[in-house]
Amino acid sequence: MCGIVGYIGSRSAQQVLLSGLARLEYRGYDSAGVAIMDGEQIQVRKKAGKLANLSGELLALPLSGTLGIGHTRWATHGLPNDTNAHPHATEDGRLVIIHNGIIENYLTLKEGLMARGHVFLSQTDSEVLAHLIEEKYDLVNGNLYEAVRQALSEVRGAYGIVVTHALHREIVAARTVSPLVMGVGEGEMFLASDVPALLPYTRRMVFLHDGDMVVLSDDGFRVTDLAGNAVARTVEQIDWDAEAAEKGGYDTYMLKEIYEQPVALTNTLIGRLHDETGEVNLDIDLDPSSFKRISIIACGTAYYAGLVGEYLIEQLARIPVEVDVASEYRYRDPLVSKDTLAIVISQSGETIDTLEALREAKRGGARTLGIINAKGSSMTRELDDTLYIHAGPEIGVASTKAYTSMVGAMLMLALWLARARGTLTQEAGKELLHAARALPRLVEEALEPARVERIKAVAEKYAHSRDYLFLGRGVNAPTALEGALKLKEISYIHAEGYAAGEMKHGPIALIDAALPVVVVATESRLLEKTISNVQEVRARGGQVILLLSDGDTENAQHADEVLYVPRSHEMVSPVVNVVALQLLSYFTAAHLGRDVDKPRNLAKSVTVE
Ligand code: AGP
Repeated sequence: MCGIVGYIGSRSAQQVLLSGLARLEYRGYDSAGVAIMDGEQIQVRKKAGKLANLSGELLALPLSGTLGIGHTRWATHGLPNDTNAHPHATEDGRLVIIHNGIIENYLTLKEGLMARGHVFLSQTDSEVLAHLIEEKYDLVNGNLYEAVRQALSEVRGAYGIVVTHALHREIVAARTVSPLVMGVGEGEMFLASDVPALLPYTRRMVFLHDGDMVVLSDDGFRVTDLAGNAVARTVEQIDWDAEAAEKGGYDTYMLKEIYEQPVALTNTLIGRLHDETGEVNLDIDLDPSSFKRISIIACGTAYYAGLVGEYLIEQLARIPVEVDVASEYRYRDPLVSKDTLAIVISQSGETIDTLEALREAKRGGARTLGIINAKGSSMTRELDDTLYIHAGPEIGVASTKAYTSMVGAMLMLALWLARARGTLTQEAGKELLHAARALPRLVEEALEPARVERIKAVAEKYAHSRDYLFLGRGVNAPTALEGALKLKEISYIHAEGYAAGEMKHGPIALIDAALPVVVVATESRLLEKTISNVQEVRARGGQVILLLSDGDTENAQHADEVLYVPRSHEMVSPVVNVVALQLLSYFTAAHLGRDVDKPRNLAKSVTVE
């Protein structure tokens, strides 16, 4: 998830681009760059690190021109450095692009272009677009719009792309999955991946839809679809203030990130699932048969994603898995050998307990794999392999989209191992792959307004409870643990998560009429067992809030409150089910007036022991 800005008009493009990028730095902040057209020349400046590095250089050696594009990066392919920073230009420097998203088939396209003599400077997937468009440009008599349109017909994946060419006073852009919004000014036009960048200049916005292409010129814009047909788009008046805009119109970053989960999951899965073959391609060079056991090590929410991973890997790939909290693992002198694959899971890639546990596993001779969000983070520099989850920057301290993307990554890893080690048939692999492919849509459904309203009502009804208990079984036992953690973190209500079958061995003593008990009882082989645990709660007067799969009216009789969630395959259900628990915690905390984005006593990345 990067930040994109474009401008054509009469102002200093440098000034518009830098102020826009500053307002989009929450989208990506590991490198930045601009390209500004001055007469028949395009000057490109880019710098690794925070935007301030680039602004410092531009203030010292400013670029003049009134047409330009700018980018702040959240690396997906290629480490954060000056060369991999955007914009990317063709060898002659005349055609320049910036891109937000992931090009699924970039390797195939790159091989073809290199075979036809194109020379690549960066490790990014994005640079492929510059060369592909250049190739089309020469074939369509220098029609920039047509060159971009034809090039995109060969591209698979997610993109918000913006293109300029030294011989054309226009900007061509297009989007699929990644967002793009246009700002309409008086005699000037603006473009950005999000509203905050445009607010200082205009409040007249055009939100481009998936598959839209647009040409911006000094006197306006025209929008078409990817087939070249003109499409009409309305100019909307936006009255958000800058802070609200950074949150995309949501009250908090946490709520915004909950709603970003469908796109984050799309980016986690993109380019890795092959429907025809049922195979998963993880772009890591780990030999799936080179180890006998797996250690999963993490902290907090990432640890719960590890517990789901344990369930999926043992079930599907039949490899013994141990899951440890990192702060214990590093001091318990763990049994590690070269037959061990140590998997560390982390959003930030900086959590010190997990980093030290990684070092402990390496000292023991383990092969190491990271399930990480932040590119270029400390852990990624010490790991043998890293499977990036591509969830984009997560600003809310309470992790949401990183969790669902981590579980999505664990599912893909389990599938990959199972297919490679022959413990799963191609048919069964395809069935699960299709279930995984459906996750972004199912999470979209879990966020439907009627469901959200229902969850809000239940949350507010029980917001003044002193304690909460969360229960789940099987692959959803960790879902209950994550639900309890989210509630604790942001509402400060004492909450326990427990495997439902374990309740009668202790926590059942907590149950009385004042205790809300949330039970994850969606479609699964263990549903009946879970319902019998629900009856144990009911028999002691507990308030049962039941998560049921759509259409399960029969079990609704066992609940005081029912929260219906989209029906999904049991193995992928932890991703779908946790959304309701994220929202339950969110609305409880909001109702209690908590600072949801910066809860007390917590830090987004825990770099102390
Ligand atoms: C989760 O909401 C918390 N922020 C916390 O438990 C977090 O999961 C933990 O600190 C691990 O962080 P990491 O994923 O960045 O390593």
